[in-house]
Amino acid sequence: MGTVVLGTGACVPERILTNAELETIVDTNDEWIRSRTGIEARRIAGHGEQTFQLAARAAERALAAAEVGAEEIGLLVLGTVSSHMLMPSSACFVQKEIGAVNAFAYDINAACSGFLFGLDLADKYIRADPTMKVLVIGAETLSGRLNWQDRNTCILFGDGAGAAVFGHSASDRGVIGSNMFSDGGLWRLLYMHAPVSTNPELVVPDNSGAHVQMEGREVFKHAVRAMEDAVCGLLAREKISIEAIDVVIPHQANIRILSNLIERLGVPSEKVFLNVSKYGNTSAASIPIALAEADEQGLLHRGDLVLFCSFGGGFTWGATLIKW
Ligand code: ACO
Repeated sequence: MGTVVLGTGACVPERILTNAELETIVDTNDEWIRSRTGIEARRIAGHGEQTFQLAARAAERALAAAEVGAEEIGLLVLGTVSSHMLMPSSACFVQKEIGAVNAFAYDINAACSGFLFGLDLADKYIRADPTMKVLVIGAETLSGRLNWQDRNTCILFGDGAGAAVFGHSASDRGVIGSNMFSDGGLWRLLYMHAPVSTNPELVVPDNSGAHVQMEGREVFKHAVRAMEDAVCGLLAREKISIEAIDVVIPHQANIRILSNLIERLGVPSEKVFLNVSKYGNTSAASIPIALAEADEQGLLHRGDLVLFCSFGGGFTWGATLIKW
């Protein structure tokens, strides 16, 4: 059929920030956070854990699992909105770090949908050139892009990285299809400024610092509806019923968004992989970390239909279906 996952890997920072610790930083409490988001803890990057460094470790683990050498990678794409530099891309730093000397590399800015947009790209490249191997990574250190005085946002996010190696298979397995969307018209509901411009003509009004800003309730409503539409559209196009899906790996935004989505889709909750309680929302890293954990736990069996869906700033959203 086409593009298959050859190996997965993840890397999260050592440091765990619990809800109890957050109570000492902002006016919040464990009960509020758990009941509204399902999050119990998140990882916070420290020294030696920049976005590209977490990404490189996740990539090395995915390459080892795939038994693919770094030099075999033709394309390396990294979904992130939290690089330590604007240029070069984090993808180029990862390329250097892991020795992917034959790859061309670049970042994708699609927020929480970065990994699925990258997966779609990998699928299209591999369909065009079946000899190609593509490394897709999602990695974030949003802890450095949060306003730690804003309890509406700082409780939600965490740091980490996940990766997958993609290649061609002549079998009937692989990516069945993707259904991807963006709507820049709604950007104000979830955004993060760039550093202030040194050109006074280009200074953006209200740039109060490069940190995440969000209208939580609005994001919630759009996220549920958009992911439901993307999934239903994809399944209708591929003529596959929701009952046929074996495993759902959604973007781990928060438990209430996911419960709403699961209910609307009519998927039994035991088919849905969740780890949001441990890591919070790791944006582009959330799906590949979840994928790597589901893979490691032996939850994905050959021939399973695995459904992914995401929603994030932009807005960007989509769904992807893989026959494992
Ligand atoms: N601790 C305690 N109280 C809080 C906190 C907090 N951390 N944050 C807000 N509150 C208070 C508010 O101030 C408000 O108090 P008030 O009634 O006295 O004014 C009250 O709790 C309710 O606030 P709401 O914002 O209305 O709370 P809501 O039920 O909408 O929950 C939440 C907020 C969890 C952010 C919810 O809107 C949500 O999940 N939104 C989706 C956001 C999201 O997941 N974004 C991630 C990026 S996009 C993506 O990944 C899908």
